[in-house]
Amino acid sequence: MDKIVVRGNGPLNGKISISGAKNACLTLMPATLLSEEPLTLTNAPRLSDIRTMTTLLRSLGAEVQTMQEGKVIAMSSHDADNHVADYDIVRKMRASNLVLGPLLARHGHAVVSLPGGCSIGARPMDIHVSALEAMGAEIELKDGYLHAKTSGGLKGADITLRFASVGATENTVMAATLAKGTTVLRNAAREPEIVDLVECLRKMGAEIEGEGTDTITIQGVDRLHGATHPVVADRIETGTYMLAPAIAGGEVELIGGRIDLLGAFCEKLDACGIDVTETPTGLIVRRRNGRVNAVNVVTEIFPGFPTDLQAQMMAVMCTAEGVSVLEERIFENRFMHAPELIRMGAHIDVHGGTATVTGVDKLKGAQVMATDLRASVSLILAALGAEGETVVNRVYHLDRGYERVEDKLSAVGAHIERVSEDE
Ligand code: UD1
Repeated sequence: MDKIVVRGNGPLNGKISISGAKNACLTLMPATLLSEEPLTLTNAPRLSDIRTMTTLLRSLGAEVQTMQEGKVIAMSSHDADNHVADYDIVRKMRASNLVLGPLLARHGHAVVSLPGGCSIGARPMDIHVSALEAMGAEIELKDGYLHAKTSGGLKGADITLRFASVGATENTVMAATLAKGTTVLRNAAREPEIVDLVECLRKMGAEIEGEGTDTITIQGVDRLHGATHPVVADRIETGTYMLAPAIAGGEVELIGGRIDLLGAFCEKLDACGIDVTETPTGLIVRRRNGRVNAVNVVTEIFPGFPTDLQAQMMAVMCTAEGVSVLEERIFENRFMHAPELIRMGAHIDVHGGTATVTGVDKLKGAQVMATDLRASVSLILAALGAEGETVVNRVYHLDRGYERVEDKLSAVGAHIERVSEDE
């Protein structure tokens, strides 16, 4: 298994290109199952999670071709006739559950294994299930698989989600595009990836209004057609690299980065002492003083502070001036990076869903273990400002969600390299 070795070496300067959003691409790909005509995605990120979704769609009978080294994904579900999403693929990644809505809408039945993915909490699927049941699906759990069927197809319904789940919103919106009648989805998630999905579905002929608000209305149509759609910029990758100069100093331009996708995150950066300026091609990020200020963070649904940037923010707070309190409200068990940061000399107390971080002058390099996707990158960020060498072990999580992290950070002057276990 690969390791990433980082030697903290001061300010970063230069440009980093932001890739297409992993989470948007993972919901756009299953949308191919809704149509017999081709769906082509451009600006796709090159990540192992995308390869897992490719394998899953192929197993369902879809044709998936990647071009331009993976940046373009051309899909056709013309002959897709399998409706069983197998445990061996689904267990690798929770986003596999996003085939449930499309399969049900297309075939009237679907068998989807309960997913795995990052070990950051229980992550059940009850919200997806209740929404689809409200549209007339009968769903039961047998042998670890959700068995879903409809008699006479899905029907539009007035649905209120008990929590604004991103995945449940995506599954329900996709299913509702081919349902009979109108679906009104209340307490819907508002994340930019949902807006991107709706824009793509609309190009395919879907009739949808209200994306980006908490009420989405979908008028079912008989069929969807083909389309080509560029994947939106990755706001979590953008936020992650915005925090690199916060830790190491310097000035970094993020090509393709978009402030409008970042919600409350940018306000926190300002309070920390980080300047963010929009340019015609992206964003410039610069640390104002020698050390950032401690700020308190509460993770919330969009446009609140994203849970997917909490670990990275904790890495920044480890060397901030003062004490910060980070409260995780979206997932339980999402502080697994804390013990690893403590190995690097951080002062962190975790009690339930709250972590209190007392900033220290400097962290020190150490051997650390990547425990989940965002935790992995938080350790790399911490290492950029630490004294000496940090070895981040078990980086396969990182490859699920960050494209060429070592190349992107080397390009702005970081001393970072990937070492294969057998080297
Ligand atoms: C998506 C993102 C993930 C991000 C998360 C929250 C993708 C591929 N992944 O995950 O990176 O961290 O949004 O922004 O887009 N829940 C239930 N029952 C359900 C569904 C969810 O209790 O049926 C709970 C989960 O356990 C979790 C919370 O709701 O505590 C948020 O989950 P959800 O918004 O569904 O996240 P995902 O779509 O899985």
